[in-house]
Amino acid sequence: MIDLGEGVITLLDQRLLPAEERRLSLTSTEEVVRAIASLAIRGAPAIGVAGAMGVALAARRALDAGDDPAEAARAAAAALRVARPTAVNLGWAVDAQLARARDVAAHGPQRLVATLEDAARSLQGAEVRRCEQIGAHGRALIGRGARILTHCNTGALATGGYGTALGVIRAAHEADPTVRAVVDETRPLLQGARLTTWELGRLGIAYTLICDSMAASLMADGRVSDVIVGADRIAANGDVANKIGTYGLAVLAREHDVPFYVAAPTSTVDLSTPSGRDIAIEERSAEEVRGVQLEGRPAAPSDAPVANPAFDATPARLISAIITERGIHRPPFERTLVAALEAAES
Ligand code: MRU
Repeated sequence: MIDLGEGVITLLDQRLLPAEERRLSLTSTEEVVRAIASLAIRGAPAIGVAGAMGVALAARRALDAGDDPAEAARAAAAALRVARPTAVNLGWAVDAQLARARDVAAHGPQRLVATLEDAARSLQGAEVRRCEQIGAHGRALIGRGARILTHCNTGALATGGYGTALGVIRAAHEADPTVRAVVDETRPLLQGARLTTWELGRLGIAYTLICDSMAASLMADGRVSDVIVGADRIAANGDVANKIGTYGLAVLAREHDVPFYVAAPTSTVDLSTPSGRDIAIEERSAEEVRGVQLEGRPAAPSDAPVANPAFDATPARLISAIITERGIHRPPFERTLVAALEAAES
């Protein structure tokens, strides 16, 4: 989905899916920042990979131009880490690249660039492996014939490969082909309708697409057995920032006795953020909300005042379990997440 070549990053432009499969070639930091901010590439682990590749790209281009790659890496990191504020993976991946650059600086510019390129590629491989492990753990939670509701897009597009919440659905479906997905369209940018359906279709997993507002009715009718979502940042107390609408689903799931699971790699856990209230929530442009058209006509007045928070924070008390590559973590998350991170570091 995203590849780093010598001086170029290529990726599938997610803004055009499902109508068109077109790859973008990015050759500058500005282009990578724009691709992340405009959601050509999106999803917490995937923007972490793009950020790491962006730092390596800047260093490579500086080397080729006879400039200082370490300085270029620092400037790129500063621009990339603020491209989107909510997913911790972006800042985490960029900072890890800077730490590596410092470690190898004494070995000369060639070595520095090669190290950053290798590290960006191995981060992608590591995220895919983490997702596969999340799927392997998470499938144990899913009963026969499950009807799993998911929100936004958490598949290979969002992670670099395999997927988190979609990875669990995928693994559960491998074990039991009668497992089906219920896909929230995910207003305003329709990541569920455009991307999750596209991925499920390619995987041969049956699904039903619903408007976000239909989830309560389906749960009340017993047509949802589980809810599984991804995460953009998991705070130390287990509160989870994820795509706007996730919090509402968690409230509904609690009311209807439906288990509510979060699937995310440990790279999304941020112990330095105490709770969901401390997570910066990205506010996006009003046009994303009021620009929607019905039969070619604007559906809202062009000057309608709009609120457009791209994410919300779901309190830990509404979450049945968090699934990482280390296993299934139950409340109290203050304890179990720390243990997961310690295990990840050892
Ligand atoms: O704004 P987006 O499309 O980047 O939001 C993505 C999500 O909220 C995903 O659910 C989250 O990043 C988990 S991706 C495995």
